[in-house]
Amino acid sequence: MKLNHSEYKQRNITIWNEIAPRYHKRWASVNQGPFQSTPKLIELLDIKRADKIFDLACGTGVVINKIKKKLGRSGYAVGGDTSITAIKIAKKWNPLQSNLDFVNVDAENFYFSKPFDIITCQFALFFFPNAQKALENIKKNLKNTGKIGITVHGNPKKVPFFSSIFDAVTEFIPDYVPLGSPDLDRFSTKSALQREIKKAGFTKIKVKDFIFKFNPGTFEIYWRNYLKYVAKPLKEKLDSLDTTRKKELRDLVRENIKPYTLKNKTIEFPWEVLILTAKNKI
Ligand SMILES: C[S@@+](CC[C@H](N)C(=O)[O-])C[C@H]1O[C@@H](n2cnc3c(N)ncnc32)[C@H](O)[C@@H]1O
Repeated sequence: MKLNHSEYKQRNITIWNEIAPRYHKRWASVNQGPFQSTPKLIELLDIKRADKIFDLACGTGVVINKIKKKLGRSGYAVGGDTSITAIKIAKKWNPLQSNLDFVNVDAENFYFSKPFDIITCQFALFFFPNAQKALENIKKNLKNTGKIGITVHGNPKKVPFFSSIFDAVTEFIPDYVPLGSPDLDRFSTKSALQREIKKAGFTKIKVKDFIFKFNPGTFEIYWRNYLKYVAKPLKEKLDSLDTTRKKELRDLVRENIKPYTLKNKTIEFPWEVLILTAKNKI
């Protein structure tokens, strides 16, 4: 079965509503691995106290959590996401104040009555099947002098946390990611990301790449946590393998992580993250 655009989006909403609490606990609420990027993004944007900022696909609120500390009373921040569970967590973590809000919006379809100085989007652009439509909306909702900050994961070869499992799993379960899903790696190189943003008409585009480290523990802990944190539809596919295939899959993942295994048997992954900044018009 091939998902169409809206089926993919609906599936993604269901998945994010299910995994948001685990995602928050494991990633967003702790500045580990790729999330070392959040302070870098804030630094690159040079936020002023009066800035009006929108964080698109805000998830459980990690970027807003840092932005709000930079704002004075005349500035404000809004986070928007399609997952209501993520928004609930974001609100709990960032108790509402007069200059802070979270709203349920789709990246490909949002409009605010007042334009923003800055729009951020961390680890989400690749989830939007029509990324150009999302970028068009970002542009429309930015002041002419406004700027954007977009963070994505780097090249899969430089993010072995994902690829060590993903490359192995797709050998065993070719439809692990359903047909019709967007390619989540399509903006994972500097040139591809830059091209997409340029196509949308932004100017003064700069992309910085960072290599962070992530230590997920031993192979056993890494594998156990993957099974614990993965979304339900994917877990069901993994569970459908018989015992022998499951063991073969596990062995293949173990093989893939060898280059990153230290003498003490724990893993140390590099994790490439790209942060792009650009201006709207001026
Ligand atoms: C990996 S999380 C990133 C969340 C947050 N920016 C962070 O850094 O933790 C991806 C987020 O994108 C959201 N998302 C996916 N598709 C979306 C869409 N079309 N519009 C708005 N949000 C979307 C998901 O609900 C999820 O919260």
